[in-house]
Amino acid sequence: MTQRISLTRYLVEQQRIRHHLLAELRLLIEVVARACKGISHAVTQGALGGVLGSAGSENVQGEVQKKLDIIANEVLIEANEWGGHLAAMASEEMDGIYAVPNRFPQGEYLLLFDPLDGSSNIDVNVSIGTIFSVLQKPEGSTGVTEQDFLQPGSRQVAAGYCIYGPQTTLVLTLGHGVVMFTLDREQGSFVLTGEDLRVPEDTREFAINMSNMRHWDAPVKRYVDECLAGKEGPRGKDFNMRWIASMVADVHRILTRGGIFMYPWDKREPDKPGKLRLMYEANPMSWIIEQAGGAATNGRQRILDIQPNGLHERVSVILGSRNEVERVTQYHLN
Ligand code: AHG
Ligand code: MN
Ligand code: MN
Ligand code: MN
Repeated sequence: MTQRISLTRYLVEQQRIRHHLLAELRLLIEVVARACKGISHAVTQGALGGVLGSAGSENVQGEVQKKLDIIANEVLIEANEWGGHLAAMASEEMDGIYAVPNRFPQGEYLLLFDPLDGSSNIDVNVSIGTIFSVLQKPEGSTGVTEQDFLQPGSRQVAAGYCIYGPQTTLVLTLGHGVVMFTLDREQGSFVLTGEDLRVPEDTREFAINMSNMRHWDAPVKRYVDECLAGKEGPRGKDFNMRWIASMVADVHRILTRGGIFMYPWDKREPDKPGKLRLMYEANPMSWIIEQAGGAATNGRQRILDIQPNGLHERVSVILGSRNEVERVTQYHLN
């Protein structure tokens, strides 16, 4: 029987072999993974756990919060505040940063998360997830401020997501490739089920919310029209389309079999570059995709190079199979 390697054992080995993984960061990742187990349990309860439906409140984004948005946010905060690895946290569901209270030991890391991604899918039993990103607190900064978080995605030290689907799967990068762990519910542990995940450079599958077509910019419209023209068109091949409306699920499919995911700027909110948030959706997902050989741009530049100006800053996202992302980006630059 092949030996099962747990998340803990994998991280300890990374710490020992690669020396790039400090104990503090390893312990932080294990705390986040434990929190994701707790969220997975709540998600799986569904109606039985009274976790469905709206919470009746609004978040800083102006979105109506689902009960699970708030539950997941609280699970991540409670799991992480006493651990001693963090200076502060930031979340889609919180306005401003949450500095770890002085009654708890302070750490050097900054944790950002989208506690529950794909909220519109909660009540219809479609895969949802948690996305997280880890930065280091800047050297020498006393205390911790929102400004400390405003680092480009290229400065992340860990990024990952947990997808709550038929399986609960944790996907993680520490900058040395992408690994995947599947939750063994009976043992209660994440077991290594994929290493060195790679995104195929080419694809015949695109993911975009087609109902927004009339609002897109010309380069995205051109790309999608060419895909729709199929093998009689300029691409000379037929394409398939998928749109799950949970970024974690669409990205997981692309990580598993290739594809291109686009949530581009559209003219409904011309002053906003898109719907998705840079710090806790686009940056972690872009790093994972790049670490697996894919590409991620906002149509004009590498997402990981963008200097953030605000915690909840939005960004246009084009990510996935490298050759397709480069084609759409080229259309923007022509
Ligand atoms: P969240 O539920 O965390 O607010 O994120 C939802 C995002 C993302 O997961 C998904 O790709 C996108 O919203 C779907 O948007 P549409 O419903 O406009 O298609
Ligand atoms: Mn939301
Ligand atoms: Mn989200
Ligand atoms: Mn969310």
